Amino acid sequence: MQSKITSCDLTQVETPCLILGVFSERQLSDAAKTIDAASNGALSGVLEKGDLDGKTGSALMLYGIGGVAAERLLLVNCGKHEELDRRAYEKALKAVFAQLAAARIDNALCTLTALEPNGMDSYQCVRHSLLLAAQDAYRYTQTKKPASDAPAPLETLDCWIADSGQTEPAERAVAHGLAIAEGVALARELSNLPGNICTPTYLADQATAVAQHSAKLKVEVLDEAAMAELGMGALLSVSRGSRQPAQLILMHYRGGSDEDKPIVLVGKGLTFDAGGISIKPAEAMDEMKYDMCGGAGVIGTLRALCALDLPLNVIGVVPASENLPDGAANKPGDIVTSLSGQTIEILNTDAEGRLILCDALTYVERFDPDLVIDMATLTGACIVGLGRHPSGLFSNNDALAEALTQAGEVSADRVWRMPLWDDYQQQLDSNFADMANIGGRDGGAITAACFLSRYTKAYTWAHLDIAGTAWLTGKEKGATGRPVPLLSQFLLDRIGQDA
Ligand code: BES
Ligand code: MN
Ligand code: ZN
Repeated sequence: MQSKITSCDLTQVETPCLILGVFSERQLSDAAKTIDAASNGALSGVLEKGDLDGKTGSALMLYGIGGVAAERLLLVNCGKHEELDRRAYEKALKAVFAQLAAARIDNALCTLTALEPNGMDSYQCVRHSLLLAAQDAYRYTQTKKPASDAPAPLETLDCWIADSGQTEPAERAVAHGLAIAEGVALARELSNLPGNICTPTYLADQATAVAQHSAKLKVEVLDEAAMAELGMGALLSVSRGSRQPAQLILMHYRGGSDEDKPIVLVGKGLTFDAGGISIKPAEAMDEMKYDMCGGAGVIGTLRALCALDLPLNVIGVVPASENLPDGAANKPGDIVTSLSGQTIEILNTDAEGRLILCDALTYVERFDPDLVIDMATLTGACIVGLGRHPSGLFSNNDALAEALTQAGEVSADRVWRMPLWDDYQQQLDSNFADMANIGGRDGGAITAACFLSRYTKAYTWAHLDIAGTAWLTGKEKGATGRPVPLLSQFLLDRIGQDA
């Protein structure tokens, strides 16, 4: 995806397609008014005929309009002017992408970016538009080629702003939007790949390849022997049931000064979760290839960070493994010793995410982190509790929870905070070990977070349960790239460089 900012004369601009907003009640946006005046009232004539009445997202392509240099005009209804918020804006933009695809147009100039929906400034509007455009242009092609008559993805979306004085923040928005889009696309691609291609080793190779994008990034991978040497008994107990060796991926991004403590991002990289001996039912088990979406979120965020080139120290950590039934696999009742020294009774081998995460979370203590955020497709219970709109947020620090909540609002990648009260901890009691790996049916997302909290006492920490947000199920099945937008925003906020 390519894009540039312009505040050119819209009547003179040569473009395959000029995108113009109109509002319900037959009202033209300012950009559309300019074109209307130059074309002898062609647009108001169309509105009078009622062709664009109806809903937000109604759109109409116009050809051969005189008095303007653009080859085509695409009018889109953005709803009621006073009600234009992000949701309406997104709806209009999605209609635009559908129209461009239908007309096989891969290069357009968008003036909707000048509309400034409620709650979004010009920077945010441009950035969000480009992220959505890039997400719309994403195609999964590694194991399925597009039909020969399928529309090519949009290649160029230039953005028009009314005030040339705003060019600088708008250009920053382009750079940021495209950088975040790179990270989102990588996360989606890794997530969509099947378990027989995207193995722990493949994930490690792809993380290593991200280092090509920045001299500030160094990637290191610990193998099972190194993990055994360290004493990662919980993590290794999961991979023992798999023929694919576990990998601990460490991505060191050094953009800050030596004294800056690192922000550590930890992602569950379970490349396929069959449940182990506590095997899952067959229905939708294929979707457990998405159990590495937390790891993909970390790798994608580091990819975005390389493109954003932020002056921060960030360390990405991805424990990667499969969880399969096997003669060597964990059995219910088995007890393992984690890197922290705490023992764990494995009452359900399907609660494996917390087993690989707990050792990674103990390991990162050595980095003396400023804060740690882990992300994981950890529990089906999180989907039951929150549905598929927000990610579940848990934290031992109110300021961090607030910062992530805000970043989620701004990036349209929202989170909802859940409790981490001590009252829940007793559900993890075991008669034979320091803790059990499951806490019963009640509050399953919370007891999973409580389990992790026993390994994160040494630092400021937040946990994101992305089970409901990392991929779409059903006909639209595919990875979303979440929480890359959220974390990118969080990192931008850390240096106050988002406007
Ligand atoms: N990866 C799953 C969680 C999951 C399931 C995410 C479905 C998204 C959709 C995780 O490893 C798991 O199996 N969790 C169990 C925990 C239970 C055994 C306490 C679950 O949620 O059922
Ligand atoms: Mn599981
Ligand atoms: Zn899992």
